[in-house]
Amino acid sequence: MSNKTLAILKPDCLNRNLTGKAIDFILDKGFKIKAMKLMNLTKVEVEGFYAIHKGKPFYDELIEYMSSGPCIPMVLEKENAVENFREVIGATDPREAAENTLRSLYAKSTQRNTVHGSDSEENAQKEIAFFFPLKEIITCQ
Ligand code: CMP
Repeated sequence: MSNKTLAILKPDCLNRNLTGKAIDFILDKGFKIKAMKLMNLTKVEVEGFYAIHKGKPFYDELIEYMSSGPCIPMVLEKENAVENFREVIGATDPREAAENTLRSLYAKSTQRNTVHGSDSEENAQKEIAFFFPLKEIITCQ
């Protein structure tokens, strides 16, 4: 079991000035930030990241949205990080997210759902590698 996951604070999180609150929330849950950057994703980059969703009804809108403004990908570390972070963010649709999860507190819709978290160990490794070369991930702290 890996102890790392990939999170993205999405454009709606940054646009609504929720970045500090979201990061505080994540740190309060015991995650350590091992890498982080502020960036604008191009449509081609978003298509690469979300290739698994190509062809789904929400795909085109997802590409537009995720390339519409800056976002913050980060590598988070904690025991059982993937599963644990999925619990911290809550369900994809904020109306179905458990109380006191990031999405239940802040997300406005299934599309603009404030934060992404890897959904499996395998995808976490792929998604971390998508954004961060090994030398950008802190190994001691
Ligand atoms: P995320 O966890 O980043 O994974 C895929 C994203 O697609 C999801 O969050 C949402 O932003 C978006 N999305 C929009 N509609 C749906 C849907 N019906 N099911 C899953 N994801 C959706």
